Amino acid sequence: MSDDYRWWQKGVVYQVYPRSFMDAGGDGIGDLPGIAARLDHLVRLGVDAVWLSPIYPSPMADFGYDISDYRGIHPLFGDMADFDALLEKAHGLGLKLILDFVPNHSSDRHPWFLESRSSRDNPKRDWYIWHDPAPGGGPPNNWLASFGGGAWTFDEATGQYYYHAFLPEQPDLNWRNPEVRAAMFDVLRFWLDKGVDGFRVDVIWHLIKDDRFRDNPPNPDWHEGMRGYDRHVHRYTTDRPEVHEVVRAMRRVVDEYDDRVLIGEIYLPVGRLVTYYGEDLSGVQLPFNFHLLLTAWNAPDVADLIRDYEAALPPGGWPNWVLGNHDNHRIASRVGRSQARVAAMLLLTLRGTPTLYYGDEIGMRDVPIPPDRVQDPSEKGDPGIGVGRDPCRTPMQWEGGEGAGFTTGEPWLPIAADADRVNVAVEAGRPRSMLTLHKALLALRRREPALHVGAGSLLETEGPILAYTRAHGESRFLVVLNFGPDPAAFDPPDGPWTTVLSTALDRAGETIDGRLALRPDEGLLLRAG
Ligand code: GLC
Repeated sequence: MSDDYRWWQKGVVYQVYPRSFMDAGGDGIGDLPGIAARLDHLVRLGVDAVWLSPIYPSPMADFGYDISDYRGIHPLFGDMADFDALLEKAHGLGLKLILDFVPNHSSDRHPWFLESRSSRDNPKRDWYIWHDPAPGGGPPNNWLASFGGGAWTFDEATGQYYYHAFLPEQPDLNWRNPEVRAAMFDVLRFWLDKGVDGFRVDVIWHLIKDDRFRDNPPNPDWHEGMRGYDRHVHRYTTDRPEVHEVVRAMRRVVDEYDDRVLIGEIYLPVGRLVTYYGEDLSGVQLPFNFHLLLTAWNAPDVADLIRDYEAALPPGGWPNWVLGNHDNHRIASRVGRSQARVAAMLLLTLRGTPTLYYGDEIGMRDVPIPPDRVQDPSEKGDPGIGVGRDPCRTPMQWEGGEGAGFTTGEPWLPIAADADRVNVAVEAGRPRSMLTLHKALLALRRREPALHVGAGSLLETEGPILAYTRAHGESRFLVVLNFGPDPAAFDPPDGPWTTVLSTALDRAGETIDGRLALRPDEGLLLRAG
């Protein structure tokens, strides 16, 4: 029975980037009352849970991923009453609410860090990662920061370096220290007590670094055009064996409450990724699977990915898939508008929990950012090589006209030039729009246990075709995706099949018994019988 599954297995997660979703206050930056006012869109769309990127007080050096108070709300986004109202409204509408938890680092303005850096014998000194200079002077080792430059910043006053995997404004907390763990776990309880349904945990594979501070080895595959950070293999700064014990402890906190979820942000090869389910599934319930973001967009590679991922899952480990987020190019820019429709069908029919990035449901594309409007530290650290994240973080396109229904003020990032055509209001009325396709896929997925919890089975295919079945009880579906721009054909197993939904044209109700002809860039969902 599909009733035996948890909401985070059956449901679909939708990521909101709060700065860009809806600005109710008119300052050009999205806020909590704005999100609350737009929840009806998510209900109509048919998703089940909303994950909010950070909404806490922050100097915004990394747009909220540098937190100065883990228990507050940034005034830009509103206040705690706005948060409580949003949570209540979401729950009233049957939506779960997932917060972003950023345990690896705080802001350098967090009172903990201010104390820690105030003197070598401050009780909080060891809450962060301090180290003496190397014997000949200079940083203790060769560790690099994600947004460019070295990962150690010297503190004149106390004569030591502190470690930051990201910006100097984001000092890493020392998760080997039990006091840090206790304090951070109380942060989780604070929000869980309020009733949030879970957390997406930022860079969870970074939490523990080598206790011997060994140098990272060079990356033999590095070449010009890659981030400076990628000159190294991050052997001693990420994915350390001791991290799993921390993840288990975090999970135990969440398990003090009913039916909550932990989703871990992890960029690692499949074989390493799945270790974050933990021994006997004692880790995070959903280690984010970003491999659709990283794999070349063609049928054989995606088929290999699905096969490898399914084979690597531990017994009982629940799969999940991500097509876009606030750190990567948008799917419609990566694969083009037509293939983005195929990608939507893939995401919403694969076995496992899908996470949908705001705006992808209307086919938003990366927005070019003029140099004088660049905001993202990633772009500033490695300019011009395409790692900037502003293009995928631009305001949600609700309607035509100035401000696109997002703001009455000056938006913090430019609004897409095609927002008059690509927006919720226009697409809601069009039977062939990206939005209508998403609604249809989500409605089917919700209605059919085969699609939300059914077994998945990849079929033998050739050329640009990817095909798989989903089955539950008596009900069986077939998904056939044409990754190419030319017509293609496929011989489905044991027909007949009836077409239910196509990404390319109106073709519900055709009986297919024998060869199936696919249009260019067509994804097709069929039902057995
Ligand atoms: C994660 C976030 C990213 C942030 C980084 C540092 O990768 O998704 O946006 O910049 O962590 O917190």
